[in-house]
Amino acid sequence: GKAVLAFSGGLDTSVVARMLQDRGMDVVTVTVDVGQGGDYRRVAAKSRRLGAVKHRHIDARAEFATRYVIPAIKANALYQGKYCLATALARPLIAVKLLEVARKEGAKALAHGCSGKGNDQVRFDNALRAGGKLPIIAPIRELDLDRPAELEYAAEHGIAIDKVAKRYSIDQNLWGRAIEGGDLEDPYSEPRDDAFAWVRTRNLPAKPTYIVVRFERGVPVAVDGKRMRPADLVAYMNKKAGAAGVGIVDHIEDRVVGIKSREVYETPGALCLIEAHADLEKMVHTSHQSRFKRSADAEWAQLAYTGLWDDPLREDLDSLIESSQSAVTGDVRLRLLQGGMRVVGRRSPRSLYSRKAATYGPGSTFDQRLARGFVELWGMQSAEAARLRDRR
Ligand code: ARG
Ligand code: SIN
Repeated sequence: GKAVLAFSGGLDTSVVARMLQDRGMDVVTVTVDVGQGGDYRRVAAKSRRLGAVKHRHIDARAEFATRYVIPAIKANALYQGKYCLATALARPLIAVKLLEVARKEGAKALAHGCSGKGNDQVRFDNALRAGGKLPIIAPIRELDLDRPAELEYAAEHGIAIDKVAKRYSIDQNLWGRAIEGGDLEDPYSEPRDDAFAWVRTRNLPAKPTYIVVRFERGVPVAVDGKRMRPADLVAYMNKKAGAAGVGIVDHIEDRVVGIKSREVYETPGALCLIEAHADLEKMVHTSHQSRFKRSADAEWAQLAYTGLWDDPLREDLDSLIESSQSAVTGDVRLRLLQGGMRVVGRRSPRSLYSRKAATYGPGSTFDQRLARGFVELWGMQSAEAARLRDRR
């Protein structure tokens, strides 16, 4: 029968392409373009060399940006406060495309190159099961293969693996680049420069870089006065922030399967856009909206990370989040210098910030005398409880 394989041309998926044929299956490889870059003719050629009966390349860049990345920005989505979910967001979309090809090809099985130790298996399996009943083949997981065993299999079968892919396991798309494995598995050792491809780590500009992001209803629509489509805007931000040395994340992450892993990311655009978006929200949302949204945001990131993209709760959260975005219009100014980034200005027609209320200077509209009674009532119960505890 025919198996449809999610194929990047990297170590795992190349090994799997051959292994499926060892089992007597015809392999159709599918590469979904979610902005990972690279040469697609080489991926197609590799598929052919590996013996696939067909290769499909699907350009899903715009769809990825609009339907996955933009909602993540609206949700300020950072798993454990750090990880922008680049890989996590792409998996459900890749799964949808895989299912489409499987239907057209009359495939008997779906296949992916995930290990049993990671999160991607959870995301792929769940998304593939949400879309149908075809069996899922995951040879790396089934055979409990490690990377040396895969490299050995590749060498034996004449499968070429490039240098960086030998040293690290890399996954990248428009929203970010994840680097794992190799010397990074020692959580105390600093990543070598050759782990990085998007963020400059040497000879950084001595002068600050300023970026102005314009949001309309929570969507970044222009940078530095230039209107851009979401995918182009994110790519532009990656370039500009990466050149200023901004965008490296190095943290300890809790995987779904219980493993703690040391993760290194390059996510310059994501970090800047989420920082800017979250800052603007604080200006236009009431304190009550802000407080509630923080928990909705955290839940959204949790679902996306743990492979529950298709859970109805995600759509429920999206409804709430979307409704909250009607006020998120304005400009945010970021200052980037030597790998550091901060918001230095924000303005909005929906701003709830009132200079007249906040000022310590003359012309205040805030009557301080009202505060005394407010403070007394506000702390009433707490003060009484403290008195009783201390029996005063
Ligand atoms: N830890 C990240 C995540 O769970 C990155 C995964 C990278 N995937 C990969 N196949 N190299 O999303
Ligand atoms: C894998 O284990 O297949 C890649 C890493 C991950 O899924 O977290």
